[in-house]
Amino acid sequence: MKHLQDLPSWRELWKHFDATKSLHMRELFKQDPERAQRYWLEVGGITLDYSKNRITDETLALLMKLAKEAGVPERIKQMFHGEKINTTENRAVLHVALRNRTNAPIYVDGEDVMPDVNRVLQRMGEFAHEVRSGEWLGYTNQVITDVVNIGIGGSDLGPLMMCTALKPYGHPRLHMHFVSNVDGSQLRDVLEQVHPETTLFIIASKTFTTQETLTNALTAREWFLQHADEESAVAKHFVAVSTNQKAVADFGINPANMFEFWDWVGGRYSLWSAIGLPIMLYLGEENFIEMLNGAHLMDQHFYNSPLEQNMPVLLALIGIWYINYYGGGSHIIAPYDQHLHRLPKFIQQLDMESNGKQVTLDGEPVKHETAPIIWGETGINGQHAFFQLLHQGTHITPIDLIASLQKRSNLPGHHEILLANVFAQAEAFMRGKTPDEARAELTEQGMDSAQIEALVPHKTFSGNRPSNLILMNKINPRNMGSLIALYEHKTFVQGTIWDINSFDQWGVELGKQLAKTILRELTGETAVQDHDSSTERLIRLYRNANCDKPGQCD
Ligand code: F6P
Repeated sequence: MKHLQDLPSWRELWKHFDATKSLHMRELFKQDPERAQRYWLEVGGITLDYSKNRITDETLALLMKLAKEAGVPERIKQMFHGEKINTTENRAVLHVALRNRTNAPIYVDGEDVMPDVNRVLQRMGEFAHEVRSGEWLGYTNQVITDVVNIGIGGSDLGPLMMCTALKPYGHPRLHMHFVSNVDGSQLRDVLEQVHPETTLFIIASKTFTTQETLTNALTAREWFLQHADEESAVAKHFVAVSTNQKAVADFGINPANMFEFWDWVGGRYSLWSAIGLPIMLYLGEENFIEMLNGAHLMDQHFYNSPLEQNMPVLLALIGIWYINYYGGGSHIIAPYDQHLHRLPKFIQQLDMESNGKQVTLDGEPVKHETAPIIWGETGINGQHAFFQLLHQGTHITPIDLIASLQKRSNLPGHHEILLANVFAQAEAFMRGKTPDEARAELTEQGMDSAQIEALVPHKTFSGNRPSNLILMNKINPRNMGSLIALYEHKTFVQGTIWDINSFDQWGVELGKQLAKTILRELTGETAVQDHDSSTERLIRLYRNANCDKPGQCD
């Protein structure tokens, strides 16, 4: 691909930015009473209102031109057709195959992946049925009551987020636990709550080499064997999810108890694969399939719709408008639902691990910004914490406000208050408050003019702050599937335009390598050597603090 900077649309967008940057959305709404209707899109159970963005028809037309010139339509086809678009790992990128509900063949290296996808899905379904129905018994013939997923990153965040989001659909007997941190306290806290006779451990790791996961898994296994005594009991309480059969066998889990997936499923795109086993155990096969159906619906929309009416493409392009032109370095995910509180963390990994890159596909340094910093919190809590900066701070920080139209609880009055707040925030971000409005308000309160003039600058909101409103008809498995697929494809489109590989993650390797060396030095297995003076001092400090003979462990 040509450099992004050399694309005609990129340059035209700069000119357009200079010409429109001081336009206020208030004016745009005033000029066009149809704005909301036109900047509005519905796909399945998801509605996107993107009217409160600093865009005009011309902005959108130029952004669409950018997507075309950057090859987005071709790239979408390449992904769906199993081409090896993850070039640094020579892999296809086929999370869409995992939810390919039409079963149309998808080939990788000349082989249709669908039979394998369906086989594993069926095995997961059978296993989930046995555990949920109580047929699957532990080593003392008791039913499973607790499931502990041990995994990290993509092998943790997706299942954790979905199980939390869809709690009302969860099996009443099953308590789900997620352990990712290697600090020991997270695993200990969980082990204190569960009983070995009724607990199923899922060791989830794509590579089955991840230090944190394997350490936690070994400790869980030791804890289990202290109670069970019998090595044969492990088979009833430990299953693995991985692409690495050999490492699973070496660890001591019978490959018959392993649910496989494939190298063309990226960790952060894996909740649709066997990594989603906790989701299926908790929600049941039917609901898991519904989640796949919802994702498939979004996939079909993404694949078939023209760019102008394509929800992931629109979100991606509007994001690019702020990141690359307005210089907005961060993006907020604000779900207005307590059960969605894990969503910002999930999208953070999805986006930042995918697009936090600094070289193009050809390995040349990029000359433009790539992924923004993604952060967030439940919107209602954010309102009483960091929203102040969004309203009156000096940064422009686009925000996705996510809410459900239908109530989640029967508690009277709650949902109305929630939704009133979502809509009010979006309106306030957009319109702000002019000095005259602030003045009029203060006058009505009976203040004298000196007090009023002193307060007006503080009570003024510039407004013109962008937001997307994403409404789900209802928070259910289908719509959650669509929502996550929406963000996955948005990430992919942005990566395509930036000409980077959204599917590798070499940046996490250096820290891992150094940690291995330092671990040997902390334990005294090797001498401390070849570090900068700060790192060396820290290692020596630790060695002395944990030394039997203080002062002699240098
Ligand atoms: O270190 C980053 C990472 O490789 C993520 O990409 C991945 O989701 C996570 O670690 C866990 O990896 P695995 O599933 O192989 O244990």
